[in-house]
Amino acid sequence: MDLFEAIEKRYSHKEKFLPDAVPLFDLERIAGAGLAAPTGMNSQCVRLIILPDREAVQPLCDVAPTDGMLTAPAAIAVLTDSSKQKAPKGELYNFEIEDYSAAAGNMLLAAVALGYASLWLDSPFFDSEKQKAAIEVLGAPEGYNLRVVLPIGKPDGAGTRREKMGFSERVSYGKF
Ligand SMILES: Cc1cc2nc3c(=O)[nH]c(=O)nc-3n(C[C@H](O)[C@H](O)[C@H](O)COP(=O)(O)O)c2cc1C
Repeated sequence: MDLFEAIEKRYSHKEKFLPDAVPLFDLERIAGAGLAAPTGMNSQCVRLIILPDREAVQPLCDVAPTDGMLTAPAAIAVLTDSSKQKAPKGELYNFEIEDYSAAAGNMLLAAVALGYASLWLDSPFFDSEKQKAAIEVLGAPEGYNLRVVLPIGKPDGAGTRREKMGFSERVSYGKF
């Protein structure tokens, strides 16, 4: 699928997924698209955990039982290393948010390009207890944050398309 077609087709699938398994090869291609995203000062602080089947998704679903997670046949959890990196001039920096966002965007498009639907699911993990529980379930070491989970699968139905503001309402030329 052409990149622009994938961009057009992408939407947040908040409804149910079909139970059809997602081949590991496809999940790895999606994860690879995430890792190919730009990262601040090339720090590469994003870590991905592929949850390749329902059994692997279930423990995270128990923490965040949203509609998508309850039926997703697979998912990818996106974590970041919270430690600060040293720039060549010695200053410390941290690009966790920018890096995981870029990675997640790539993966959402890659999923569509391969014929799947997905969703940027983060709000359940804002809760500190749920964040702690999810990190434990995923076996991540201290210092890692679970940022977003992407449930992935074939959609059960067309899914809801949300209206976007017009191009000219959000884009101008030369000045605001
Ligand atoms: C930073 C961010 C956080 C989001 N968190 C959630 C979430 O926790 N749960 C959810 O159902 N959708 C979440 N979404 C999806 C948005 O609701 C969705 O992108 C928005 O409504 C526009 O719809 P569209 O993606 O179908 O174009 C999130 C999207 C982004 C970019």
